[in-house]
Amino acid sequence: MARGIRVILLGAPGAGKGTQAKLLQEQFAVCQISTGDILRKAVVEQTPLGKEASQYVRSGALVPDSVIVNLVAERLKEKDCERGFILDGFPRTIPQAESLEAILKTRDLALDGVLSVHVPHSVIVERLAGRRTCKNCGALNHVVFDPPKKQGVCDRCGGELYQREDDREETITARLKVYDTQTAPLEDYYRERGRLREIDGVGKVEDIRDRIAHVLGDWVQ
Ligand code: AP5
Repeated sequence: MARGIRVILLGAPGAGKGTQAKLLQEQFAVCQISTGDILRKAVVEQTPLGKEASQYVRSGALVPDSVIVNLVAERLKEKDCERGFILDGFPRTIPQAESLEAILKTRDLALDGVLSVHVPHSVIVERLAGRRTCKNCGALNHVVFDPPKKQGVCDRCGGELYQREDDREETITARLKVYDTQTAPLEDYYRERGRLREIDGVGKVEDIRDRIAHVLGDWVQ
């Protein structure tokens, strides 16, 4: 089996991070840590984390750094992360990136790199407005680009497909603004450290997967 990887997927909402992270997870047998998925599950289950995060997630604002950092630090200790990880939606602020560095340092681990997926805002709005997610297995679909065989039903497990609450148009606009102001500066942060590779995220899912594979080929010998 190929060696594991330790990568961050950076990109605006709807850039395709979750879609590509799931493919990489299968290919490299590492864990995918989607902070958004963890928070949404906590909101549905009404856990203390979910109660704290609910308003932020619904409005498209960022959950406080301290909450997110603890959550990721704990998740990284789990067995399925031993071979490596794909961080999908984390870090999202400079303080989160600094905390991640500290966490990895204490465990003597180094990142392979950061893949920043670029997609214009106009394409993003189209992708998010049509996104449908399986309530049961989390599979991602799109009503136009990747429609299920039966409307509203997941091809993979038969679960119910739903539209995320934060995929309404006004919330999408708010999320894009948050990305531009709070998360996009991470590109410079990782560029200055020689860790950043930029990926054109427009095109077919398979083409983007191949572009990512090309970069990973440089990192994972
Ligand atoms: P999160 O769940 O991380 O949302 P996001 O970053 O806004 O990203 P998305 O899941 O919307 O998009 P994606 O890039 O994964 O795209 P996808 O593959 O689904 O975060 C949600 C909220 O949680 C945040 O707003 C915040 O409140 C909170 N949060 C999370 N992490 C946090 C953190 N670290 N700090 C603080 N707060 C945090 O693709 C989108 C659609 O396009 C799908 O329908 C897919 O099928 C389709 N698609 C994908 N690729 C293609 C393609 N190539 N061609 C056509 N369609 C495609």
